[in-house]
Amino acid sequence: MSVRSICPSKGLKGEINIPGDKSISHRSIMLGSIAQGTTEITHFLKGADCLSTISCFRKMGIEIEEKPDCILVHGKGLRGLTPPSEVLDVGNSGTTTRLLSGILAGQNFSSALSGDKSLNSRPMARIMTPLNNMGADITSLNHNNCAPLCINPGTLRGIHYQSPVASAQVKSAVLLAGLYADGETSVTEPALSRNHTELMLQNFGAYVVSTMHSNKSATAQIAPCTELYGQQIFVPGDISSAAYFIAAGLLVPHSEILVKNVGTNFTRAGFLKVCEAMGASLTLLNQSFEGGEGRADILVKSGSLKGTAIEGDIIPSLIDEIPMIAVMAACAEGTTVIRDAAELKVKETNRIDTVTENLRAMGASVTPTEDGMIIEGGARLKGARIKSYLDHRIAMSFAVAGLAASGETVIEDSQCADVSYPDFFTSLESLH
Ligand code: S3P
Repeated sequence: MSVRSICPSKGLKGEINIPGDKSISHRSIMLGSIAQGTTEITHFLKGADCLSTISCFRKMGIEIEEKPDCILVHGKGLRGLTPPSEVLDVGNSGTTTRLLSGILAGQNFSSALSGDKSLNSRPMARIMTPLNNMGADITSLNHNNCAPLCINPGTLRGIHYQSPVASAQVKSAVLLAGLYADGETSVTEPALSRNHTELMLQNFGAYVVSTMHSNKSATAQIAPCTELYGQQIFVPGDISSAAYFIAAGLLVPHSEILVKNVGTNFTRAGFLKVCEAMGASLTLLNQSFEGGEGRADILVKSGSLKGTAIEGDIIPSLIDEIPMIAVMAACAEGTTVIRDAAELKVKETNRIDTVTENLRAMGASVTPTEDGMIIEGGARLKGARIKSYLDHRIAMSFAVAGLAASGETVIEDSQCADVSYPDFFTSLESLH
C-alpha cells in the first residue's frame, strides 16, 4: 500500500498547469478510432483510465502513437475495428466501460470487457437496458448487471430513451450506438449532464441536436452516420482536477494560486458556481473557446467560506467535485446541505459513505442522507488517517483537507490518484 503524509500548510503560492480533461481525452480516442483518417490530440490526459481506453482500441486493430507532444490516432472508420483476441481490460474506468459498450454494440463481432474489483461492482443495467432496447445483445457474465459484459452482434434500431438518471455515460453510450442504428436515436435525461460527446460528435461530422426543456430536462438526438472524420483536438485542463487546487487555495490561509488552462464548459462548471455561493474569491482570466469547449486561467486567493445548499439540476455539473466540496463545507462557517446526489453511491466508491467516514475521522460533523449529506462547518479539521478505498477523488480531496487541518494527515493507497492525475502530489508540493 502506498501512503502519503500531508502536513498543514502555512500558505500556497504559484501556478499550476492542469492536466487534460479525462472525459474529453477518452472521447477523443474513441471517436478518433472510429473516424476515417488521423486524429491529433494535444494535452491528452495520460492517466490510468484514459490509458485503458487506448489499450482497448489497440486490441481492436487501431494504431495509436504516443508522440512527445501529442497522441496520433489512426482511425479506420465506423466499421474498421477488428475483433479483439482477448477480453478488453477497462481497469477502473466507468467511462471506458459504458461508452465503449455503445460502440461495441454496433460492431459485427463479439467482444467482452471486464475491469478491476470496483469497476466490476458498478451498475451496468443503466446502459444494458437502452442498448438492448436498440437491438444490441449485451449480457452480464455473472448475471448481476455488472461487468464482465459480453457483447454480441445485433442489428441496431433508433429509439427514444427516457433515462431515469442524468448521466453523460448513459447518454453517450446510447448516442454512440445511435451512429450505427437504422434511424434517429434520442436520449432525454432529467437534467443536462456533461455534453462533451455531443460537441465532439458534431466536430467529427455527425448530426447531433441538443434541446433543453422548460422543466430542465434535456434531449440529445443523433442521426445514423456513414462516416466520421479525424480531427485536431486540444484537450482543455480538467476542471475536476483543477477543483483540488482551487479548494487548496481557498482553504489554506495566505495562499494565492493561478490555476491555468481550466475547461469551463457550463455542463461541468457547477463547482465554480458553488465556490461563488460560498463567498470564494475567484477571477477568471484569459478566457477562450475551442471545439465548443471553453477554458480559462483561474486566480484563487484564500478567504473565509460560508455554507450553502447544493441541489437540483446543478448536481450533474459538479458530481465528481462533491468530495472536495464536502471538505470545503466542513471548513466553512454554517451548514451545507447536498441533495439530489444519489449518483454518489455508484461512483468508484459509495462517496456518501467514504466522504462521511473520512470527514468524521477529521473531526467534522456530517450526517449522510439518502441522496447527499448535511455538513456542519466551523470547526478546524484535525489530521487523521484517511482511507481512500482506492478512489482517486477521495485520496485527492482529503490530501487538500490535510493541508488545512491541524497535525499530520496520512492518505492510504494514495497511488490511486494516478487514475485521473498522475502528478497530483508533485504538483501539490510545488506550491509550498
Ligand atoms: C463521466 C461522467 C460522469 C462522471 C465520470 C465521467 C464521463 O459519470 O462521474 O467521472 O466522462 O462521461 P455519470 O455519467 O455516470 O454521471
